[in-house]
This record gives sequence, C-alpha cells and structure tokens, in this order.
Amino acid sequence: MANVLIVYATRTGETGRIAELIAEGVRFGGSQAKVVNVSEIKAESALAGYEALVFGAPTYHGDMIQSMKTFLFLAEKAELAGKVGGAFGAFGWSGEAPDRIYDTMKHIFQMDMVGNPLRLKSSKLGGGMQMAQDYGRQIATKLAA
Ligand SMILES: Cc1cc2nc3c(=O)[nH]c(=O)nc-3n(C[C@H](O)[C@H](O)[C@H](O)COP(=O)(O)O)c2cc1C
Repeated sequence: MANVLIVYATRTGETGRIAELIAEGVRFGGSQAKVVNVSEIKAESALAGYEALVFGAPTYHGDMIQSMKTFLFLAEKAELAGKVGGAFGAFGWSGEAPDRIYDTMKHIFQMDMVGNPLRLKSSKLGGGMQMAQDYGRQIATKLAA
C-alpha cells in the first residue's frame, strides 16, 4: 500500500483541519496517510519513504506563513523528484500560498503534481469538507495509476 505524507503549517488551526480531511480522502482511495505539523519536522530524512507528499499552508499578508517557507528550504534537500505531490491551504480572500507551494514542488523539486492546488476558505464552508476529501482521493488515484 502506498504511503502519503501530509505536512501542514497553521496559525489558527484551519489548514490542519483541511490536512486531516485530505488524509481521510487518501485512505478512502486505498493508500495510507500520515499528517504532521511542520513544526515537528526537524530534518529532511523525515520526508523519506513516501510515494506522495502533500504540503499545505495558509495565506497571511499575501504569502505563505513563514514556517512553511523554512520547511520548503529543508524539503529542497530531500530527494522528491518524480514523487506525486499536492498543495493546499486555508485562505480569506486572495489565497496565494497553495499556488506558491505547488509551483515550488513542481519546478524546484520536480514532483509529479496533481491537477491543481486546493484553496479553501474553510473546511466547514461551501462543500469544503467534500473538496478536501476529494483532493485526497485524487492523490490516491494518481498513485494507483
Ligand atoms: C493578519 C491576517 C492577515 C491575513 N492575510 C491574508 C491574505 O493576504 N490573503 C488571504 O487570502 N487571507 C488572509 N488572511 C486570512 C487567513 O488566511 C485565514 O484566516 C485562514 O483560514 C487562516 O488559516 P490557519 O487557521 O490555517 O492559520 C489573513 C488573516 C489574518 C489574521
């Protein structure tokens, strides 16, 4: 069974809730998922052994939260080329963070990204729960292909 690592940064908890829902969708799709707060990752070795990696951060002041930026410099040292990837995050009105993360994973890490980054105002609003679970399923489906 394929293993998926979901790493999230958050300030008020919303992006963490989205991470848990993505993990549910991954499991519905038949893969294993582990959810980790970015603050727990101390070395790039923590990213080894996964077929897919999904990174998420909220947008503050038009940018991803600082802890995710720092994490992406660490992730650059891991060998992620060719692995399946996805990016997500909670936002209020502009939501730049998931796009920036997605582009970094695609262009710098050379990962095999799912269709689009996932941006959600809230996991509780406008079908957010379903969209997050569907994103997880999409990752699992890509792994099975
Ligand atoms: C000071 C501040 C600045 C923010 N700046 C932005 C922003 O530039 N663009 C945006 O889309 N949302 C912005 N937001 C909204 C957050 O992205 C939103 O509340 C999100 O759900 C927070 O996610 P978190 O709970 O994972 O930290 C801002 C919120 C605060 C409090």
